[in-house]
Amino acid sequence: MNKLIGVTRNFCSSSTRNAIKTVTVVGGGLMGSGIAQVAAQAGQNVTIVDLQPEILDKAQKSIQNNLVRVGKKLYKDDASKVEAFVKDSFDRIKVATKVEDAVNADLIIEAIVEKLDVKQELFNKLDQLAPGHTILATNTSSISVNEIAAGIKRKDRYGGLHFFNPVPVMRLLEVIKGEQMSEETYQAMLAWGASIGKTCITCKDTPGFVVNRLLGPYSAEAIRLYERGDASAQDIDIAMKLGAGYPMGPLELSDYTGLDTKKFVLGTIYKKTSNPVFRPIPLLDKLVEEGKLGRKTGEGFYKY
Ligand code: CAA
Ligand code: NAD
Repeated sequence: MNKLIGVTRNFCSSSTRNAIKTVTVVGGGLMGSGIAQVAAQAGQNVTIVDLQPEILDKAQKSIQNNLVRVGKKLYKDDASKVEAFVKDSFDRIKVATKVEDAVNADLIIEAIVEKLDVKQELFNKLDQLAPGHTILATNTSSISVNEIAAGIKRKDRYGGLHFFNPVPVMRLLEVIKGEQMSEETYQAMLAWGASIGKTCITCKDTPGFVVNRLLGPYSAEAIRLYERGDASAQDIDIAMKLGAGYPMGPLELSDYTGLDTKKFVLGTIYKKTSNPVFRPIPLLDKLVEEGKLGRKTGEGFYKY
């Protein structure tokens, strides 16, 4: 199976040709850097904005390394083609520390910290500063897409574009229809998804959308199983890899996503739905309080 299908084949169904040629990604962390990479390798001009210059340096390094992986997969032993692919894609990426310097784009995707008030402030600013035609999108995991855009005027040119980690590898893009999204914006989002090689699905603005609504109970029950001492972390992960065909076990995947993100996503869906499967898990709370957030801090359910 071609895991890097993103670069070679298109699956989103849309009658519209992609008109989005310039993309700004606000937030240069784990997700923002991946989104910037896939847009650049699809031939689009990209600007990454992050408040922290060191995050921008880190994003550029990781994009360069990941482009080499993609290039080697595409061009195998042809070193000069790999080099040209990496250079061309990388040269399309600029960086900025101020959003004011990056608003001239056809599409602006927000991938900053998962906090409603911070996202709202950013969208209000983008709405004021960006050209009229610019489409705005959020990559939120679990916050209501409509609540994030409560203060913006261009609600017809706004919605959710929810990517999955690692962005260059995961083939899905959830397109979340904002309350007042126009058909034109919806088609433009589908066409853009196709242009970067993702398979799009559409979902209403419902807590967790499709993937996190279903992944949440699965990972929550896995953490509770471990918390009760019913099985070791390793055995739970081996069980789901070998018994159910998942590429990673649920605890490994929670460490990979980040335990803070996991806790936040479960908590947000619980607040909105009151479904007890999403209720707080003392072990998860404890690990987050101790700063054991998974791979990014060197320890979560496992040590790295
Ligand atoms: N960029 C480009 N290519 C990459 C990459 C990256 N960042 N990371 C991995 N790859 C490529 C590798 O080059 C490799 O390619 P080949 O198969 O051609 O060699 C392939 O992907 C597999 O990588 P690895 O061999 O390093 O590792 P692996 O086989 O263990 O796979 C994995 C790693 C792709 C992450 C796999 O374990 C997996 O799919 N895990 C599940 C991930 C998942 O479920 N993500 C969704 C999380 S939920 C979410 O994101 C939503 C949210 O809101 C929280
Ligand atoms: P991250 O912490 O790796 O990156 C967030 C970045 O945003 C940081 O580098 C931070 O400096 C920057 N930032 C914060 N406020 C900013 C602002 N006002 N302007 C510019 N930059 C700002 O986080 P992440 O894991 O990349 O998540 C980003 C978003 O994507 C969140 O909404 C998250 O819920 C969502 N998401 C995460 C995952 C995942 O698996 N981690 C998957 C899908 C969606």
